Amino acid sequence: ETLLCQALAPSRVEVVPVIGSTNQYWLESIPQLAKGDLCLAECQTAGRGRRGRHWVSPFGGQLILSLYWRLEQGMAAAMGLSLVVGIAVVEALAEQGFDGVQLKWPNDLYLNGRKLAGILVEMSGTAGGPCHLVIGMGLNLLLPKSEQERIDQPWAELADLGEIADRNALVVALVGYLHRYLALFEREGIAAFREQWNRLDYFNGKPVRVLMGEQEIHGRARGIDDQGALLLELDTGEVRHFLGGEISLRPQ
Ligand code: BTN
Repeated sequence: ETLLCQALAPSRVEVVPVIGSTNQYWLESIPQLAKGDLCLAECQTAGRGRRGRHWVSPFGGQLILSLYWRLEQGMAAAMGLSLVVGIAVVEALAEQGFDGVQLKWPNDLYLNGRKLAGILVEMSGTAGGPCHLVIGMGLNLLLPKSEQERIDQPWAELADLGEIADRNALVVALVGYLHRYLALFEREGIAAFREQWNRLDYFNGKPVRVLMGEQEIHGRARGIDDQGALLLELDTGEVRHFLGGEISLRPQ
């Protein structure tokens, strides 16, 4: 497969037992990093989630990683990238025998309607320069009982789908898929992934609420458009497009 040949081998893989946040660490390390470099941790003490939330990352219970990526075309080229990350993770898990994982816009991984993993993409860069991205993921493997009650939303773990025999094989598969899908994204953009994303969309066709600040909009989820915007069909038949920012999606 041609895409496979273009996959980058990380020049640096750093494994740390305990850290505040792998994303924070990798953001601070950007000047020393090459595209594809990877940081893995067993535990985070200040894990970060989307919208400034805390991310519970107990020792040994999760796959915690951050990947450095870089887009020479700048910030604008990153639009839709986080959706591709979600697809890559789902496909890597399927390759490893963990089937049935779905996506929740923009990039939560869902198993049976509960959150299996979260993805946080953080960016930096200056106008006219390249866009630096730190792609962070926390994937529940088998959460220690003592930590389970700290998670404030319905959650799932990979062990629900079968025995996790080899964490290293999981990481290798994940990184391989991320490299290949991100390379394809750079060439063809998010539109190339639209159908695949819509197939994996947990909410597709379901009644949902979209929260935008104080506003709450009801409708039926209809997957994404060619820019990666969430599509919501209102009762009137009108279809609205939501492109990120402070938007969250809930079941109705
Ligand atoms: C979410 O809110 O769903 C995103 C959670 C992202 C968590 C991961 S764990 C590895 C990386 N480091 C962090 O501090 N956050 C991300």
